[in-house]
Amino acid sequence: MGKLSVRANIAEIAMSLLVLLCVLQRSDGTKEKTTHLHFYFHDRLAGINATAVAVASANVTSATGFGGVVVLDDPLTEGPNVTSKLLGRAQGLYAGVGQEQHVLLMVLTFVFQTGEYNGSTLTMVGNDVIFNKVRELPIVGGSGVFRLARGYALLQTITAASSPGNATVEHNVTVYHY
Ligand SMILES: *[C@@H]1O[C@H](CO)[C@@H](O)[C@H](O)[C@H]1NC(C)=O
Ligand SMILES: *[C@@H]1O[C@H](CO)[C@@H](O)[C@H](O)[C@H]1NC(C)=O
Ligand SMILES: *[C@@H]1O[C@H](CO)[C@@H](O)[C@H](O)[C@H]1NC(C)=O
Ligand SMILES: *[C@@H]1O[C@H](CO)[C@@H](O)[C@H](O)[C@H]1NC(C)=O
Ligand SMILES: *[C@@H]1O[C@H](CO)[C@@H](O)[C@H](O)[C@H]1NC(C)=O
Ligand SMILES: *[C@@H]1O[C@H](CO)[C@@H](O)[C@H](O)[C@H]1NC(C)=O
Repeated sequence: MGKLSVRANIAEIAMSLLVLLCVLQRSDGTKEKTTHLHFYFHDRLAGINATAVAVASANVTSATGFGGVVVLDDPLTEGPNVTSKLLGRAQGLYAGVGQEQHVLLMVLTFVFQTGEYNGSTLTMVGNDVIFNKVRELPIVGGSGVFRLARGYALLQTITAASSPGNATVEHNVTVYHY
């Protein structure tokens, strides 16, 4: 066989694979969707009905909370007022990972409890530089409606008391899923 026919064979194989891929995609029938979510997250680290608890701290003096670990189960609401409609909960933990800046490593699963999203989850992992005006955190996966999710969340703190205290954080989430 000459060089030309080898090339022709490769092209033929590539074409067959392409056709096979198209057929598979069609028979599967699923298409990626984009969903936008908007909600407020309320973290109450102290006092009556606290939703977050400090579980560990390092034996260091740190103005930035470096070495501290907090576990949380925070309500997610439709509006900035904690008494507005409950949409779900954020369950997970954050750790102080910045020695010079207030940086929290967030590991959270958002569990939605309303309508078509009831029982579906989104998991977010990333570093949150909490005193920056707008932050971005990656969505790394999900379940239920959000199975195979990927995307990102934009965060903005609406109110924050000095630590330990309360914070309300607005989230705009863009999620790609099937
Ligand atoms: C704490 O939660 C209970 C039950 O949800 C509620 O009745 C009470 O008003 C809350 N207290 C405060 C200070 O938020
Ligand atoms: C905490 O650190 C100080 C100073 O480094 C040390 O003296 C002390 O033993 C440490 N405490 C614990 C519980 O490790
Ligand atoms: C939140 O809503 C409650 C009633 O549901 C109201 O009493 C309270 O003033 C509101 N808080 C803010 C900050 O708007
Ligand atoms: C969500 O699902 C649970 C169990 O599957 C059910 O008990 C609950 O009523 C549902 N809530 C809403 C708002 O659909
Ligand atoms: C979220 O989206 C709303 C509406 O577009 C906008 O007003 C708000 O500033 C956004 N917040 C963040 C943190 O992106
Ligand atoms: C946090 O919020 C709760 C209930 O809204 C309130 O009782 C408490 O005083 C607040 N704590 C701080 C530090 O603002």
